[in-house]
Amino acid sequence: MNSAISASLRRILELARWAPSGDNTQPWRFEVLADDRLRVFGHDTRTHCVYDLDGHASQIAHGALLETLAIAATAEGLHADVRRQPGCPDSAPVYEVHLAPCEGLAADPLVAMIERRTVQRRAMSRHPLDPAHKAALAASVPGYRLVWFEGISRRWALARFMAANGKNRLTMPEAYPTHRDIIEWAARFSEDRVPERAVGVDPMTARLMRWALRSWGRVEFLNTWLAGTVMPRLQLDLLPGLRCAAHFALVAERPPAGTDDYVAAGRALQRLWLVATSLGLFMQPEMTPVIFSRYIREGRPFTAVEAVRDRAARLALRMEGWMGADDARQTVFMGRIGYGPAPLARSLRKPLSQLFVNGVH
Ligand SMILES: Cc1cc2nc3c(=O)[nH]c(=O)nc-3n(C[C@H](O)[C@H](O)[C@H](O)COP(=O)(O)O)c2cc1C
Repeated sequence: MNSAISASLRRILELARWAPSGDNTQPWRFEVLADDRLRVFGHDTRTHCVYDLDGHASQIAHGALLETLAIAATAEGLHADVRRQPGCPDSAPVYEVHLAPCEGLAADPLVAMIERRTVQRRAMSRHPLDPAHKAALAASVPGYRLVWFEGISRRWALARFMAANGKNRLTMPEAYPTHRDIIEWAARFSEDRVPERAVGVDPMTARLMRWALRSWGRVEFLNTWLAGTVMPRLQLDLLPGLRCAAHFALVAERPPAGTDDYVAAGRALQRLWLVATSLGLFMQPEMTPVIFSRYIREGRPFTAVEAVRDRAARLALRMEGWMGADDARQTVFMGRIGYGPAPLARSLRKPLSQLFVNGVH
């Protein structure tokens, strides 16, 4: 199709692209086949991102995109039927979307939350979650359970856990290219990365990180001689881990087995995040310990550094200790949550015109 698309489809896709993805990679492209039919080409970052070696983080993002698209379609009176094309490799799944008019379909109130939802990596209020809000969040993810880590002692345990995991992230050479490439320095907004001011560190630490991330040698020097991980872990893991209402795990009914399960988890996550937004809550995903624990369980090599592997194995055991081995295996997402304030910096998105694979304008 080499032509203009309908105003209605354009509105749907303009909203859909605001779905969240790890490091704001936006691993999706659109092929418009007709005004009521399109293909979403998913991809992942397994060739260069240690957090996505099995593609599952990207598949969660695909799910978030498809859920956002389906919610946006309701504002046009359309139901979105989504099917994954059989036979495509897991690293490049293709989703067929058919939009059909649906009489009596009301616009989902979450449409208004799509552009407002954003990650908050800095301090949130420690005000406990309102029980009615917890019930609304639980109701937004049928087929999944939310396990809460609330109260000062559990938040402290989670904060320490995240800081230990942060040491792994900052000392493994395999994560270095991702950290080097995903931050847009000195920026408050970024279309295709995470802007420096949304990272969650103070300006001095940001300057030091910017200097260090020019080479792995500098990062190693800082880590070895100047306790280089202390300030980032304090600001990125320990303090935010305490300064929130709760941490949570999104737990599936059975261990996720493949692409479809992760896509479904991404759909649930996006509903959860949009409902949280509608309740005045902010969230930050805490996905790297979930990912490393899975690598450990599945015996997937992800680092050449023995100390990192050993620490990841100990952290995986610690997670099983709090939740039980079954819940830990069935956890598809983890994060922290709390009431405001809203972040002052955020990721934006690539313009829609850059997301088409065919000549749509
Ligand atoms: C599957 C997935 C994993 C993510 N993991 C993390 C994470 O571990 N830490 C974090 O701070 N943000 C994480 N994020 C948040 C993204 O970085 C964020 O959604 C993206 O940069 C876009 O920003 P926005 O959500 O503010 O629009 C994750 C998002 C997704 C969808």
